[in-house]
Amino acid sequence: MVSFTNFVTLALALASTASAFPAYGSLAGLPREELDKVLPTLEFKKPAPPPGPLAYNGTKLVYDKAHPWKAPGPNDFRGPCPGLNTLANHGYLPHNGITTPAEIVTAVMEAFNMDNNLAKFAAYVAHLVDGNLLTGLISLGHATPETGPAPPAPALAGGLNTHLVFEGDSSITRADAYWGDNYSFNQTLFDELTSYMDRYGGGRYTWDVAKEAKWQRIQNSIATNPEFSLMQPRHFTVYLEATFVINFFVDGRMTENRSLGKEEALSWFKTNRFPDDWYRPGAPTAFENITDVAKAHVIEPGRNVNGVNTYEVDPTQPDLYNFCGIYVDFVNRVVPMMYPNPTGDILEALQINLQYLYDSAAEACPGQQQFPYGKPQ
Ligand code: HEM
Ligand SMILES: *[C@@H]1O[C@H](CO)[C@@H](O)[C@H](O)[C@H]1NC(C)=O
Ligand SMILES: *[C@@H]1O[C@H](CO)[C@@H](O)[C@H](O)[C@H]1NC(C)=O
Ligand SMILES: *[C@@H]1O[C@H](CO)[C@@H](O)[C@H](O)[C@H]1NC(C)=O
Ligand SMILES: *[C@@H]1O[C@H](CO)[C@@H](O)[C@H](O)[C@H]1NC(C)=O
Ligand SMILES: *[C@@H]1O[C@H](CO)[C@@H](O)[C@H](O)[C@H]1NC(C)=O
Repeated sequence: MVSFTNFVTLALALASTASAFPAYGSLAGLPREELDKVLPTLEFKKPAPPPGPLAYNGTKLVYDKAHPWKAPGPNDFRGPCPGLNTLANHGYLPHNGITTPAEIVTAVMEAFNMDNNLAKFAAYVAHLVDGNLLTGLISLGHATPETGPAPPAPALAGGLNTHLVFEGDSSITRADAYWGDNYSFNQTLFDELTSYMDRYGGGRYTWDVAKEAKWQRIQNSIATNPEFSLMQPRHFTVYLEATFVINFFVDGRMTENRSLGKEEALSWFKTNRFPDDWYRPGAPTAFENITDVAKAHVIEPGRNVNGVNTYEVDPTQPDLYNFCGIYVDFVNRVVPMMYPNPTGDILEALQINLQYLYDSAAEACPGQQQFPYGKPQ
């Protein structure tokens, strides 16, 4: 909760320069009077629905001539997601890292063959808490974390870097926000990962490595990070990202015993570059093997409640086998924490984006649509 307070404090500092509020800055957590100053400076654009599934959903060359790698410049936004950073470096997303949830859905399907529903779920969860609901824009993070320090503020322009709503602790190659930088590639953590590849995967990232390396990161956070949190949706995404390394980073032509080598891993996590001649996975993919990874070492959602080594399970939290519970918790607890009393255009934008989010969950959660702000008129 400390982080959330910091976040609101920074929001207040920022609001004094309301006229300069960036079109991609999140409005989440802004108090009413600050919102009132910022809103007139932004134009409300009703968000168009995201695309449906791909027409052709097999493998194909993705690192082609039309999508060369180009490093981010000093004004380009990158953040904690190596998948999306890579898409921006190759032009599947805008190179400046300022995008929309619908563009993200298109790009992750086209380049990674991500399942249409998972793509929509991730994109709208992110947009609801990290995007600008009025302009419809969301940023991938800050201006080039890899090439220079993050600008001191505006914190709310942090996009996907914003802590505790989507971005969270025990990441694979990013340190916990408690240590001050929750989004940059961290070589120490990558070296730990490769030592796990040696111990459990014959030098490669395999399912056994996913299980053991993730468990080590969680135990390390419990023991060293007094503010460690695995509250949803993080308990879900902490395992999801561990599966992404095999489900999405491995070339689609490797169909048996899929695993990732160290050089390719470095290319994805650090350089945010497709390996040469890279093909996308051969079928639409969502959360293959997530339950296997989580069941290898069981820990339920919760947090360190009073300093290091005080992890307590929160019995009110859904676990990751309960996808609908995660949807319900996100919509009824997390979103209203960021937007307690929305009115006007913001309320309308929330309702539209909440509908797109539910559309992605409807097949899995029939009849369970939630209306935290009442049913739209
Ligand atoms: C569909 C929209 C997506 C959104 C909104 C999204 C967002 C995020 C965010 C906010 C994080 C930070 C979580 C943390 O604290 O570790 C993250 C991490 C990650 N994402 Fe994505 N992501 C998306 C798609 C993808 C795709 C398609 C891939 C793979 C191709 C991917 C791979 C990863 C990996 C491996 C991490 C963990 C990074 C690390 O710990 O070093 N993501 N993503
Ligand atoms: C992939 O495309 C084929 C052919 O259009 C379709 O029959 C199949 O259902 C698609 N698979 C998925 C998972 O969408
Ligand atoms: C990388 O992560 C380690 C372990 O969490 C941390 O001690 C170190 O300060 C981080 N390095 C940087 C440069 O952030
Ligand atoms: C996470 O990183 C963002 C971007 O720099 C920063 O604004 C935020 O304060 C960080 N969170 C914490 C808790 O340090
Ligand atoms: C996959 O792994 C199994 C079991 O280790 C092995 O028998 C098989 O040959 C492997 N397949 C490939 C294509 O490497
Ligand atoms: C899930 O993991 C098992 C090994 O633990 C493997 O045999 C299987 O192929 C994996 N599934 C996918 C989709 O990779």
